[in-house]
Amino acid sequence: MKIDKFVTNGKFRLDGGEWDVDNNVYILGGKGGVYIVDPAHDAEAVIDELAGRPVRGIILTHAHNDHCELAPQLAEHFGVEVHLHPEDDMLWRETNGDAPYVPLSDNQQFELDGEKITVFHTPGHSPGCVVLHLPQDNVLLSGDTLFNGGPGATGRKYSDFDVIVESLRNVVFNLPGETKVYPGHGAETTIGAEAARIDEYVARGY
Ligand SMILES: [Fe+2]
Repeated sequence: MKIDKFVTNGKFRLDGGEWDVDNNVYILGGKGGVYIVDPAHDAEAVIDELAGRPVRGIILTHAHNDHCELAPQLAEHFGVEVHLHPEDDMLWRETNGDAPYVPLSDNQQFELDGEKITVFHTPGHSPGCVVLHLPQDNVLLSGDTLFNGGPGATGRKYSDFDVIVESLRNVVFNLPGETKVYPGHGAETTIGAEAARIDEYVARGY
């Protein structure tokens, strides 16, 4: 399926701190309809990028504010639902209060253009982190679970390094090595390249 990526800039806030971040936003699908993954920071940029394509829904890889903050406003704008794993409910509420979302579950599938998008629950960076596998495209949208150069950050609240390593070893690295990894921040990588370095990541502790 068509996968568009663009970058927006804004603030990530947690534990009373604030950091400037660039987020990768993904739009999956063609003229028949799209899912928006992690719309971040700039609603107008997201709407421009759609170029009029109808929106079927918004899928969030997790509920850190930089990934989820725009979701309620865009969901209302397009008349669609937000899909989020419920184990991130406390993070969602910190940013979006009682705004509604539909709970994601492990192994759930979306269908788009006759192709499947499979959700895998991969806790660690946050309890409700998920990744989205597009098997026909050999692509994994990894959110903040896996980056080019290592696992997502686990130094702040609700994060756990041992849990993210378990998610990588037991779920993410079971995907084919040639799978392209499109993360929530920064450059792409592959499953094979990152799986080959897992012992190094574990040894250094992040
Ligand atoms: Fe995050």
